Amino acid sequence: MSAPRRPLVAGNWKMHKTAGEAREFCTALAVLVGAEPPVDVAVCPPFTALEASVDALADTSIAVCAQNVHEAASGAHTGEVSAPMLLAAGVDGALVGHSERRAAGDTDAQVALRVRAGIDAGLTVVLCCGESLDIRRAGDTQRFVTRQVESALADVHAADLPRLVIAYEPIWAIGTGETATPEQAQEACAIVRSVASERVDGASLRILYGGSVNPGNAAELMACPDVDGALVGGASLDPESFARIVAAAG
Ligand code: 13P
Repeated sequence: MSAPRRPLVAGNWKMHKTAGEAREFCTALAVLVGAEPPVDVAVCPPFTALEASVDALADTSIAVCAQNVHEAASGAHTGEVSAPMLLAAGVDGALVGHSERRAAGDTDAQVALRVRAGIDAGLTVVLCCGESLDIRRAGDTQRFVTRQVESALADVHAADLPRLVIAYEPIWAIGTGETATPEQAQEACAIVRSVASERVDGASLRILYGGSVNPGNAAELMACPDVDGALVGGASLDPESFARIVAAAG
């Protein structure tokens, strides 16, 4: 028997909040979620606010993740940040392959290397996948998501499970206010679990849904059997709103 999957609610701030604003947010969030939240909680600040967030959350169980990580440990990669650098800054994990990063040029090959580099350094990697509206309308969601997950996990092995989370985030639901229905989220997360099961123990792997999650829809999305939490964008920027989503997962 696999251990039950502990839900994870992560807030992706994208390009929002200075270090000072991050400190204020984290201090407020820690009070709102309490010392022992019933689920795992993480924030994903921009690079410049990571250390302030790590510092403000030092005595809490709330994790801090970066929004991306480079595949090389160091070198001539202007503007990039490596996994060992994140680890040294006290960061717990990193998103990899967010659709906004893929749109900015991150390739499938880089995503696979970044998953590996992050896990090797000791970070928890939250691998993001999800189809565009065109792909969904063409009836190609299953094939597309399968290919994305297979490619990203090409070099992942069973022992990597504790450091791996996958977030299914349909692009058409990100920042649009148009949330996937619980049925759509469940169907896609079940596909992700089945594909990932070729690499790790799928029954123990946490799979999140992301895309216009808010305090009003979080509970029904996270009640789906294959949805183990949420990756929240806009609604994670306000501590009260984010804490309500955390409460909905508990
Ligand atoms: P929204 O919650 O703003 O739709 O963003 C989702 C997302 O991209 C989280 O990574």
